[in-house]
Order: sequence, then C-alpha cells, then structure tokens
Amino acid sequence: MPVTLTVNGHRIVAPAGVSLFALAEQAGVRVPTSCVTQGKCKECVVEITRGMGLLSPPTDSEAHLDLRGSPFRLSCQCRIASEDGEVDCHTMRRGHMRIERKALHLPVTHETTPLDPAVARDGDRIVDTITGEEIAQSSGPVHGLAIDLGTTTVVVRLVDLESGELVADTSFENPQRFGGSDVMSRIHYDTEHPGRLLMRTVAGYLSHAITDLPVDPVTIYDVVLVGNSTMRDLFFRQSVYSIGQNPYRSITEIELAKGKRTTTALTTTGRRSLLPIHPNARVFGLPIISGHVGADAAACMLAVNLAHEDRLVAIMDIGTNTELLVGNRDRILAASCPAGPAFEGGAITCGMPGLDGAIEDVAIDDDGTFRVGVIGGGPPEGLCGSGLVDLLSELLRTGRMNAMGRFEDGLEQVIVDSSRNIFFLERDVNELAQAKGANVAGLQVVFSDYGIQFDDVAVFYLAGGFGRHLKKGASKRIGLIPNIADEKIVQVGNAALEGATIALVSRTRRRELEALVSRVEHRRLETHPGFFDFFVDGCQFRPADSGSRVTG
Ligand code: FES
Repeated sequence: MPVTLTVNGHRIVAPAGVSLFALAEQAGVRVPTSCVTQGKCKECVVEITRGMGLLSPPTDSEAHLDLRGSPFRLSCQCRIASEDGEVDCHTMRRGHMRIERKALHLPVTHETTPLDPAVARDGDRIVDTITGEEIAQSSGPVHGLAIDLGTTTVVVRLVDLESGELVADTSFENPQRFGGSDVMSRIHYDTEHPGRLLMRTVAGYLSHAITDLPVDPVTIYDVVLVGNSTMRDLFFRQSVYSIGQNPYRSITEIELAKGKRTTTALTTTGRRSLLPIHPNARVFGLPIISGHVGADAAACMLAVNLAHEDRLVAIMDIGTNTELLVGNRDRILAASCPAGPAFEGGAITCGMPGLDGAIEDVAIDDDGTFRVGVIGGGPPEGLCGSGLVDLLSELLRTGRMNAMGRFEDGLEQVIVDSSRNIFFLERDVNELAQAKGANVAGLQVVFSDYGIQFDDVAVFYLAGGFGRHLKKGASKRIGLIPNIADEKIVQVGNAALEGATIALVSRTRRRELEALVSRVEHRRLETHPGFFDFFVDGCQFRPADSGSRVTG
C-alpha cells in the first residue's frame, strides 16, 4: 500500500520518488515558490508533523534548516522514500490561524484621519509629497500598503491613497518559523546563516500575497511597515545582532545615538524591498522605541491618538514579549516584559496556538464537570492562551488551585478532557505564573516610576490578538491585567495595523509619531531595583493592584 500524504488537510496517495511539492500541487495546495523548485528560493518550506522518517534525506539546499530534530523541510527537495505509511505536513500558510486583522473601539482610525498621504497624484505624475520627487508617470490608480510584520503572523492592508478607502486585506503565518518561533532565536538564526534568508523568505511570501491582491501591484507606490524591532530590521536588511545582546538595542538606535542618523525610522524602495510593487515605490518602516518596544508599539500610539491625549492611558500588548506604554501627550513611559511563550500555548504540556481545535473557553460546573469552547467548533486538541487564562481563573474560583498555583489535595494534574487526553500540570501553572510575573512586574515598574496607580488611567487598552480574546473577569481574577473597572479596559485588536494604516494615509500623523517616539522614556526592567520583588509578587494568582504587594 503506498504512502498517504495529508497536506494542509488534503489527503492524497503519494508514490515513492515524488516530491512533496509536486504532491501538494496535485492535491490542490499551492506551495509558494519563486525558483520553480530549484532549491534556491527557500519559500517552499513545509512543517512535517508525521512521517519524517518516510522522506528522502536532506539535500544541500536544505542545510539552512538545521535538520537534526527540526520538523521543517523544503517540499521541492524532499521526496517520498517509502512504500507504506502516513505523512502529514502543512505549508506555512495554513489559513486556519486566528489572525487579528481588525482594530476596534479606537479613538481614531484611518477612516477618520484627514487624507494627506506621502505619495499622491499630481496630474499624470505620482510624486513623493515630502521630497517633491517624481516616483512614476501614470494616470492609473494610486495604492498603498500597510503591513504588520509580526513574529508569528503577517497582515497586509491595501488602501486606495486617493480616497483613503480600504480595498482589501490578507494575512498569513510568518514563514520565518524555520528560524525559530521567537525573536531571540530568529536573531540567532540570522547571525548564524548569512545571506538574508529570513528577509528573502518573508519577502517571497509577501510577494505572493501582494500578487493575489485585486489590483495591479505596480500601482502600489507607498508601503508603511510595522513590527517588533527585530522583524522590522530584518526586513530592511539591518543587522539584528545587537538586539540580542545586552543592552538590546537596534542598530538604528545605536546609529541615532552616534549622530549617524536622525531617526530610527527606515526607508527603502520597492526595488530593494524585493516586493513586486512599483520599483520606485517608497517603503517606510515606522520608528521604534527601543530594541524590544518596536514599530508596532509606536503604531499603537498613533491608533490611540496619544499625541493628542490629555488623559492618562495605558497600552498593553501581551505576547512572548509584552509591550507596555503608559502616559499622555506630555509624558510617556514604555517597557517590554520578557514573558515567554506560555500564554501563547508554548512550553505548556497540552498548549497550542490559537488555531482550529484550540480550547479558548473553559468553565467548571458545580459538579466539577469541565465545559470547553473550541475554536472552529471541532474536537479539542489543546489549550490556547485565552483557554489557559480561563482555566486558571476557574481553578482558582472553584478552589481547585490556590494563589500559589498549587492544586488541591496534592494533585499534580487536572484533567480537562479525558477523551482527548488534555490535561494541565502544576509544572504548566509554574510556566504561566512566571509569564504573568514578568507582565505584572512591568506594569508595577512603569506605573510606580510614573508616580500613578493602576486606577489613575482613564483607559487601559489591551492590544493584539491575545488581548482581544481575553475575558476581563478571568484576566483580573488571576492578576494578568490590573484590577480596575471593566469599563476602563478596552480590547482594541490589531491597533498596530490600524496605526500603520493611519501613517499610510497621513504624512502629518507620520511626522507627529516621529516627534512622539523621540520623547518616550524607556524603562529597562532587568536593571530596575524593584523588579525582582514585583516579579515574585506577580507570580501569585491574585488580583493585581498598584504597589509592591499584590492584594487579595
Ligand atoms: S521551490 Fe524554491 S526552494 Fe523549493
């Protein structure tokens, strides 16, 4: 019986000797490629989740994948090498990942921003309105792109720059995952593998996404890109080595401090970006705040209108690296909290990302029955971040776990779904406690340095995909977010993408952001004298109030 291959959920008979690339095409799955399966573009990477031993040995073209123990292969290079068995794999574009494309409940949006783009039409000329330079001669439409280049996901918006209207949007998983799932491993990978492989891979995927948009790509004359400092700098072909070394600064910050540049913003052209847009297009990376508070956080400041905000507000984007901003138009403090991947399902025994099959809601009935809500409605496969927050909150509420994270009666595990063998260990609780401790310590340091209490903010914005799906009550019960009135907590979704879109339609707002970023005071948590005490307190599962001791 020949091998059966399942690629992106499509099953196909897989004869020995045929490449995974060819089989995927037969199954109707489009695998990204720019080199026509020559092993050069590295875009055709797939993740093998079953049957790695049934495949041909790695070729020289796959040396970059560090294959010992790695689940990744180039689909054009690896062939079925067995007459029997099952191989499961998926491309980096699974399409089921819950990717946050929208922003909501923001005080300003690109629709409410007066249209004033950096690229505009002047008769039959398309001109850079900042320098006055001609970009192209054309009487056709003028389009721009806003791109949120995240470590895990990438979201693209296409905007008509003459009307300001959103024309289309698209998203995909960041294909750089073969270089590691977090920022630090990508920095390590980029340093170890010269040749801009990470940049070229994401540019290849972006090119496919742009080509699929419903307009001629050469009518795209302006791009605003945001992302954390590492993702942004990799895209703009900057060395990211220094972001991974104490004191964790982007090369742009170092050059700014030496007077070699006037801003941490980056610019390039369509041609150099490797994107299929107009070769003279402007490609602009918004400025960063620090090595670990990036252009995505800066873009959030635009989206919440911080340059014009009189009230005290806070913005928190919870993730592997939680970014935090507190202040108003007069003074802003920022910090990044090294929370690690636990709240994204990483390092948790039955954890998983927010994909179909992830438990996102948990409730425990009076009789001890667990009721779960699953993304996509199918059978549960694991717990994603919002499910983990719910689970911790319910275990606390029902007394099955104490504030120190210990299970009742000395139990070492809690069974969430016995039929699917989904369980939760005290060891998992410890991982989440430490992630939470880092977040709370960041909050305490920034608020105490500002001289304010949690309750002093008028609005506490929860940005990003994780924050969007959290339940306020559960998050407050375990102390993941400050213990303040629900009305003050506003879940805004992808505020970074909205900020990028605002910068795309308005050069005035872009300029304002440059000025604002230069005034942000960055706090380094690891050198703060109060950090350790705040961290230890923050590891407890209690509501978090301002001060050095959490209160129950
Ligand atoms: S298709 Fe280009 S490396 Fe496989």
